[in-house]
Amino acid sequence: MDRWLIAAVFCILDFGNIASAIESKEDIWQAMRGAISNSDPDIAPLHGGPVEVTLSMDLSKIREVDTVRGEVEIIAMVHILWKDHDLSWLSTMMNESGSSQHSPDRVDSFRIAVKRLWSPDIVAYNPVMDPELLSPPIALVSVDGTVLYVPNLRIRFRCNLEDFEKPQGANCTLIYGSWTHDGNKISLKENGISLYDYEVDPRFDLLGTYTEVEVKHYACCPGAYPLAKFTFNIKKNSRSIFSW
Ligand SMILES: *[C@@H]1O[C@H](CO)[C@@H](O)[C@H](O)[C@H]1NC(C)=O
Ligand SMILES: *[C@@H]1O[C@H](CO)[C@@H](O)[C@H](O)[C@H]1NC(C)=O
Repeated sequence: MDRWLIAAVFCILDFGNIASAIESKEDIWQAMRGAISNSDPDIAPLHGGPVEVTLSMDLSKIREVDTVRGEVEIIAMVHILWKDHDLSWLSTMMNESGSSQHSPDRVDSFRIAVKRLWSPDIVAYNPVMDPELLSPPIALVSVDGTVLYVPNLRIRFRCNLEDFEKPQGANCTLIYGSWTHDGNKISLKENGISLYDYEVDPRFDLLGTYTEVEVKHYACCPGAYPLAKFTFNIKKNSRSIFSW
């Protein structure tokens, strides 16, 4: 390995520190141009294997439990993480480094409207209405092509609430999956439910959370469809100030 290559590798390992210090609008523009010139919002970035999508959730609040209709409404940030190799500007960094006044090697990530990128068609399977988007539709793209999109959502979904007032509570599961792709195109992983921002509500006890990926087969279509399941075990709070 020659000296230049070693220097370049260290430069890449270290780019996080450099980037925030001296990146300019032109640097970001060059990095972004290098990244999105290879990608099309309508074409999945398949390169001989599925796009791996990791889902996790930050539960902020349980807004409502409707035992008559069998519906639960929550506010949650859904973290959707995937890697689109076509977006990586590592090679542009190597080539243009030092050759121009402005250069993308100072930039380790940029923010962009998610509609300008290809994004996996991950949707909730059991909502009762369109989830309401409470945040700007902007994604963070990193130099290696990793994309993070975190919509903050108000989601109302179906749940069997027969056991809501029993000691074991009801298990309410929000199911996510790709709407059109099977597991050969989009593979799913889950990374749990975080309660870091959870706002306790005196009306409900959140007894536990469970997450898993289950693979489904449908009569209509060949192929296996992975589904990420986020389960909230909730119970009516009998110590609630409203029922003294
Ligand atoms: C970078 O340079 C290499 C070798 O000269 C070339 O093969 C490659 O296509 C270049 N990449 C870009 C993004 O210009
Ligand atoms: C809720 O689901 C979890 C995980 O599948 C299970 O272990 C638990 O027993 C369920 N609880 C109830 C009350 O059904």
